Amino acid sequence: MSRKALIAANWKMYKTPAEATQFVEAFLPLVAGHSRDEIALFPSVTSLATVVLAVAGSKVMAGLQNMHFAEEGAYTGETSASMLKAVGATHTLIGHSERRQYFNETDEVVNRKLHTALKHGIVPVVCLGEVLAEREAGETASVLKAQITGALAGISADQAAPIVIAYEPVWAIGTGRTATPEMAVEAHRIVRAEIARMLGTEVASAMRILYGGSVKPENASSLLGEEEIDGALVGGASLKADSFAAIVHY
Ligand code: 13P
Repeated sequence: MSRKALIAANWKMYKTPAEATQFVEAFLPLVAGHSRDEIALFPSVTSLATVVLAVAGSKVMAGLQNMHFAEEGAYTGETSASMLKAVGATHTLIGHSERRQYFNETDEVVNRKLHTALKHGIVPVVCLGEVLAEREAGETASVLKAQITGALAGISADQAAPIVIAYEPVWAIGTGRTATPEMAVEAHRIVRAEIARMLGTEVASAMRILYGGSVKPENASSLLGEEEIDGALVGGASLKADSFAAIVHY
C-alpha cells in the first residue's frame, strides 16, 4: 500500500505574522510543482490566518499546533475546532510531547481532541513517543502501545482515514540526537501493529506515520527513504525556508 508522505513544519512558539509571511514568500517558489508529498505548516495561533492567506492557491496546507476538545466555552487561552476552520485551516497537531510535558496533556485529553477534530473534518496529526528514561528501561513498546490505545479509544475503523500519527521520541526533539532509521522503523512497526489490532490491518496499512525529532536536510533522506516512514514533523529545521524546502525535496 503506498501512502503519500506528509512533510510538516511545527514552528512551535516562533515567528510573528510578518516573519511567517516572509517564510511563505521564500518557501513557495522552492516547492512549486512539488507533488510527491503533502506539505503543511503549523504556525502559532496568531500567525495562522496570515499563513492560510499566504499559501492560498498553492498546495501547501496550514494547521494549528493545538486545539481544544470543547465546541466553545470558558476555556481562557484555548482555540476551538470551529475557530480553526473559520480562518481556513485544515489540520491540527494533537498531543505534542511539549503539550504533554508542560501542559499536562494526557492520553485521555488527546483522545477527546481527536474525536472533536474528526467530527469537524479536521486532519489530526496525533503525536506520541517515549522519553529517554522509558527507552533506557526497555519500555518503548509498552509506552507507544498505551499512547496509541489511549488516543484511538472509541474511534471506529470507518472514522479513521484522516488520522495521521507522528512518532516523536522525546529524547530526539530539539537535541540534535536523531533516532536511527532502524529505531524509527521499529517504533513505527509497533505503532502500526497496535493500530491494526484496534482498527484492522486495512486501516493500519493506510495510516500515515510520520517521524519527528531533529530531522534536518542532512538526515531526511535516510529516514524518509524508509518505506515505513510516511513523512516528517520538523521543528527547528522548518524555521528557515531553504532548510525546510531541502527536507521536502529529500
Ligand atoms: P526538532 O525538529 O526541533 O527536533 O523538533 C521536532 C518536533 O518537536 C516537531 O514537532
